[in-house]
Parts: sequence; C-alpha cells; structure tokens
Amino acid sequence: MSKERKHIKVTYSTLGSPDPLLHEYFEEDVAELKRNLGQRYQMLINGERVDGDGSFENCSPINTDWLLASFAQASAEQVNQAVAAAKAAFPAWRDTPWQERTELVNRFADLISERLFEIAAVVSMEIGKNRLEAIGDVEEAADLIRYCVDAMKDNQGFDRQLLSESDQHFNRSVLKPYGVWGVIGPFNFPAALTGGPTGAALIAGNTVVLKPAAEGSLTACMIAQCVVDAGIPAGVFNMVLGGDEPGIALAANADLAGLTFTGSYDVGMSIIRNFSTAAGYFRPVIAEMGGKNPAIVTANADLDKAALGVMRSAFGLTGQKCSACSRVYVDASVKDEFLSRLVDLAADVAVGDPTDADTYMGPIISEAAYNAYQGYVSELSDGNILTGGETLPIENGYFVAPTVVVDLPDEHRLWRHEMFAPIVAVRGVDGVDEAMRLANDVALGLTAGIYTEDEGEADRFLDNMEAGVLYVNRATGATTGAWPGYQSFGGWKGSTGSNKASGSYYYLQQYMREQSHTIVG
Ligand code: SIN
Repeated sequence: MSKERKHIKVTYSTLGSPDPLLHEYFEEDVAELKRNLGQRYQMLINGERVDGDGSFENCSPINTDWLLASFAQASAEQVNQAVAAAKAAFPAWRDTPWQERTELVNRFADLISERLFEIAAVVSMEIGKNRLEAIGDVEEAADLIRYCVDAMKDNQGFDRQLLSESDQHFNRSVLKPYGVWGVIGPFNFPAALTGGPTGAALIAGNTVVLKPAAEGSLTACMIAQCVVDAGIPAGVFNMVLGGDEPGIALAANADLAGLTFTGSYDVGMSIIRNFSTAAGYFRPVIAEMGGKNPAIVTANADLDKAALGVMRSAFGLTGQKCSACSRVYVDASVKDEFLSRLVDLAADVAVGDPTDADTYMGPIISEAAYNAYQGYVSELSDGNILTGGETLPIENGYFVAPTVVVDLPDEHRLWRHEMFAPIVAVRGVDGVDEAMRLANDVALGLTAGIYTEDEGEADRFLDNMEAGVLYVNRATGATTGAWPGYQSFGGWKGSTGSNKASGSYYYLQQYMREQSHTIVG
C-alpha cells in the first residue's frame, strides 16, 4: 500500500532533529498496524505463497498479549524446494544484463523507502526498537541496496579490459555471480540485514533464499513483498520462515553457492567451518558475528561527550546491537567524574513502549533474553552495580533497566562474553596504552571508540585498535551508528568471516567470482 506522503530522507545522523511529519506518518502506521494484528503470513517459493507443515507466532515484546502475526514454518524439504527454485531461476537471472538487474533491484530499494513508516511500525512493534531507530533500520536497508546499485554502475558491471599482447588478442576480467545465495538474517536489524544482503546478492546476479530470524519474520515478509512488487522474476528471490531448523537446513544444502550470515559468534564460526568446505572446495561465507565493543575515555576527554556517547551506544536498542558498547576503560584520574555523569544519564533513560516518541529504550527481544539479563545481573554481584540490574514491570513486556557496573574482576567472563543486553562494565586504567591492551584482548573486533582531546592519543588509537569500525569523540554513539556510504561497517578477528565491510567499496565484489577471458582472433 503506497500513500501520498512527503519524502523524508533519513540517516542515523538526521534522526537527531527529524521533520515533524516523520512522527505523524509513523503514528498513523502504528495505529493501522494495531488495527490489523493477528494475520497469517506464508513463505515465498518460486513466486508462490506457500504454507508450512507447522506454524509459529510472534507476540510483541512490548506486550506479549499482542499477537502480531502467525507464520508458516518451513520444513527442511521446503527449504530444499526453495533452493531448487532459486537454482532453476539462476541461469536466466545471471544472463539478464546487469543494467536491467540493477534497475529492478533499485525499484526494490525505492519500494522500501516508499513503505518506510509502514515497515518501521512493524520493526518497532516486533523487535521493540524505538521509533527513530526503527525508521533508521528500514531506510538503511534501502540505502545499503542503493549503495550496491551505484557500485555496479560505477564499475560498469565489473567487466574490465586487460592488457593485450597484440592486436590479435582481447583480454578481459569479469566478475560473475556464484549461483544460489543464502541469506540468514538477525533479529536486531530485521530490515537492513535482510534487505541489504538480499539486494547485494541479486544485483551481483545470484538468486536468493532468505531465512530471516524468527523474531523478525513480519518485517521480513514486508521486505519480501517489496521484492515481489519490484517485478523481480519468480524463483529469483525465495523466503523460508521459522526458527533454527530451516536455517540449519539452508546452510546444509549442497546447492547453495554462498551465504551471508549475521548472528552469534558460535553459530557463525560453525557455519564458516562446515559450509565453507563441505562441497570439497571453498564456498564463500560473508559473516558478521557480533562484538564486545570497548570505549576508551582518556584523562584528556570531554567527559560530557564521553558519557553521552557511551550511554547511547550501551543502551540504544536495549544493548542488542552487534556494535553496542559493553566495556569502558576510563583513565583512573577521571573515573569518578565520568561514572557520575554516566550513571545520571543511565538512570534517566526513558524506558517504555518504543513506539512512543519519548522512549529511548524499548523491551528486550524475548523471554529467553529477559531471563539471560537476569542471569547476567546475578553474575555482576562479583562487581558493584551502580544503577539498574532489575527488570521493570511495564505493560506485559520484557522490560529491563539500563545497567552500569564497576569493579568487575579482570578474569570475569562478562568482560569477554557478548551479552546483547543493556549492561556496560566500566574499569579504571592507567593511561591509554593499558586501555588499548585490554580493549584488544578479546576474540571479537567489531567497533571501538575513544574520547580524547589529544590528537596524539587519537592517532595511537587509530593505529593500534584491532576492530573494523573506529570512532573518535562521537557524542551520538561511542561505538554505534554506521550508515552506508558514511561509515563502512564490518569487523576484524572473530567478528567477521571476510574482513570486508558492508556499505563500503569492497562489499559487492564478495558476491561474485572472477573470470579471466583471453580471446585470440
Ligand atoms: C549493528 O549492526 O549491530 C549496528 C550497526 C551500527 O550500530 O552501526
């Protein structure tokens, strides 16, 4: 459904002072969604809507009495049917001129933007994202796709003439698609991290089977509808729904040529180990596997900026971003001053229904996450909880308090474990070198931030940090808030399977393989 509305361009940085119409549109679409709860959604296989053998339901984490929708649950056989449909559709899609492919996929991106508020209302109700972050997630999906559209155009389809030995020789290098590409998406960016990789794989000429996170299924159904309405041919894009089983069946399918996975380190590493080599040759996995992201606050920091940036990155999306800040190393000389600012900000965080304009932090995603938060809090008794550490009785939802802890022993497992909860641990350090040593001493390396007014300290940080995304003095987020074209977003070490970032020059090429042609005539 398209509505006559003013186009409002959104990025995470423009969201700070949005057009008032943005609120009006979002509220209209939340009201409409609330009038239409409880519908049933099917999968998409070979252009057909398909029901599952089983079924599952998503209730809102804001209030578990709100049944958002019920969904067809894919069996392993249906996953294999989706891959078979994508395999059959591959030759024609591969042979479609790249200019036509990019036009169709660009239309997919434009439809996401046209339905921005409608999809964002779903993201907010389904995932518990606050309204601005929900809107950001959806528009980021469209911009990730457009970024790849532009990359394809700028590189003229990645078909380049090479040096020739003589005028009898014609030599070229061309990037070609792999075949059927699987996309396994996460719950926390249910639009950007299903739509973005799907768009990239399609532009490159692959056909796609998407398996979104079960918790983000309604968002994924709306993204899938944009693919269909863009006119992308049947079988080129397929979507299967459900929990872990369809994801496992997808990653086990021998006809899958490549895979994009966003999720936990453990699952990602197991996919990399098994999927990459199971065919007897290397199959690419583009994996983003989380973070344990540190912020460093030096003796030369602007402490107001530092506290604000850490608060935003630790508690935005209820601490459930891969880029969330969960560790702070602050110079001992300013530790108390920094902590008092951070604790005041944390205690003031507006927690509640994320569709409300004033809410900063919505609920945590599920009962399992709610229980995990309580488990972490009991482990934090090894340190000193300065604020938070409790569940909050709001609606009938999974609400928890933003939590700041200090004096956690260095060997405590939570210094290394990604919690995906609004908990940040703070430790005093003796200078920036000790801070960087501790910050780098984890297997994950997604994002990191520093606050310092000293250029030399900032340079040392940029030279030495083992993470894929670095921020210096950012009040809008110590470790979060990348936007395609503005910041590339991808990790190092255990945060990545490819060491290349999304929204960057090097992303789209990962969906293609190189072939050299020498023609003597
Ligand atoms: C994420 O993918 O978890 C977040 C992206 C960002 O915060 O920049």
